[in-house]
Amino acid sequence: MSNNPSHQTAHSSLLISQDSLFTHIRHTEFNRLDQHGHTYLDFTGGNLYPEKALLQHQNLLRSEILGNPHSTNPASLLSTTLVESARAKVLDFFRAEDYFCIFTQNATGALKIVGECYPFDQQSYFLALADNHNSVNGIREFCLHKGGRYEYCPIHYEDLGIDHEKLEELLAAQPDSTHKLFAFPAQSNVSGVKHDLKWIATAQDAGWDVLLDAAAFVPTSRLDLSVHKPDFVSISFYKIFGYPTGIGCLLVKKSKFEKLQKPWFAGGTVTLVSVATPNHYLANNHERFEDGTLNYLDIPAIKTGLEFIETIGIERITERVSQLINYLYEKLKHLTYPDGRPKVRIFGPEDRSRAGGTLIMNFYDPNGERIPFEEVEQRANALKISIRSGCFCNPGIDEVNNCITGPALSAYFSSRNKGDYKDMMAFLGIMRGATRVSVGIATNQKDLDNFIEFVERLQ
Ligand SMILES: Cc1ncc(COP(=O)(O)O)c(C=O)c1O
Repeated sequence: MSNNPSHQTAHSSLLISQDSLFTHIRHTEFNRLDQHGHTYLDFTGGNLYPEKALLQHQNLLRSEILGNPHSTNPASLLSTTLVESARAKVLDFFRAEDYFCIFTQNATGALKIVGECYPFDQQSYFLALADNHNSVNGIREFCLHKGGRYEYCPIHYEDLGIDHEKLEELLAAQPDSTHKLFAFPAQSNVSGVKHDLKWIATAQDAGWDVLLDAAAFVPTSRLDLSVHKPDFVSISFYKIFGYPTGIGCLLVKKSKFEKLQKPWFAGGTVTLVSVATPNHYLANNHERFEDGTLNYLDIPAIKTGLEFIETIGIERITERVSQLINYLYEKLKHLTYPDGRPKVRIFGPEDRSRAGGTLIMNFYDPNGERIPFEEVEQRANALKISIRSGCFCNPGIDEVNNCITGPALSAYFSSRNKGDYKDMMAFLGIMRGATRVSVGIATNQKDLDNFIEFVERLQ
């Protein structure tokens, strides 16, 4: 222990407060991490499931007879009851009284419904933040195919936050368009930056419909839809509580429900169809967008998962994740070589109070050369440390972090009909991508210290 009092104070302020609840949860629900000696730091990729929720769900499946919904037989009725109870739980969890909850396969499935059904036309605009997941970026193709236009609002290189002036300008720029959709993530899946939810109301006041991609935000933050009221919200449940995979939802504000124009119908989405005449009536609630048979065996586990989160409390999770990430950030920031050169460069804001439990970074050797992220990941893999690297389906952030210009990208894309990330790096003659580390409910200080030690040894 240092005798320097200022050092002691700085050091102890870094320690994560020992919240016995999280220690208990780690022991009872995630003990498999310790049994495997596994340091899991990819919570933004996918959360880990608590054992309790898994067992509860297994017990349900083992003890009940569940059949395909949409019938009056008892097996069917029980499935319907459980699915509707899960749906009610989702609406309650997000305080979403004014919304429909449409179950989808994942957040991408939710985003696709919006892209496909939003009434884009030749006067339409799709405005997206440069910091968006590709499942949001892809909506621009629906807009283009219907003759509309799209634009991106830039983010700042320094802190990866929204360029406020530019966004205000862009929101004011299309006063005559009727169908204008603005999409942004409540939290970046790459930098962890939480974008200000005030933009929802600002955009709506300027006549825009707002699509909030909440997939990376809701696992560790409260989304209260009685306060912030985007028109459409996308969510993947495995990101919140790990199990089951394959279920997400689209929350649609009831007042915007009719604005989504479904281009076809399918089993389960209609109240009546004729074959002799070209008529059909679409269902007037969530069923309109739930194509075919729902995943009725897994959907009941959504309720169990949300109840697990409630037993901890989402605000407590926010606080815990913030402590964890601040600890990691402060430690990594100060890792240097003997000559003072930094080992790590972390992207995004220095003030982590505006960000969640995700950090992206690059690592440097003693000569100041960037260590390829593939090499970093391989070396972490060998130590059973699960991290993620690449561009995380969010090319906008990567282009900003690596200062890649539009003309350079155009030169690449116009030079060939197909390509990939590696090919592009070779063409541009630069390294792209980064390493992402993300924490969650199951993370403890030991996990972070394992990772810090790994970085200390990296050269
Ligand atoms: C912010 C964000 N949006 C959308 C998605 C897509 O989610 P999914 O792959 O579950 O559809 C992700 C996944 O990482 C995400 O983090």
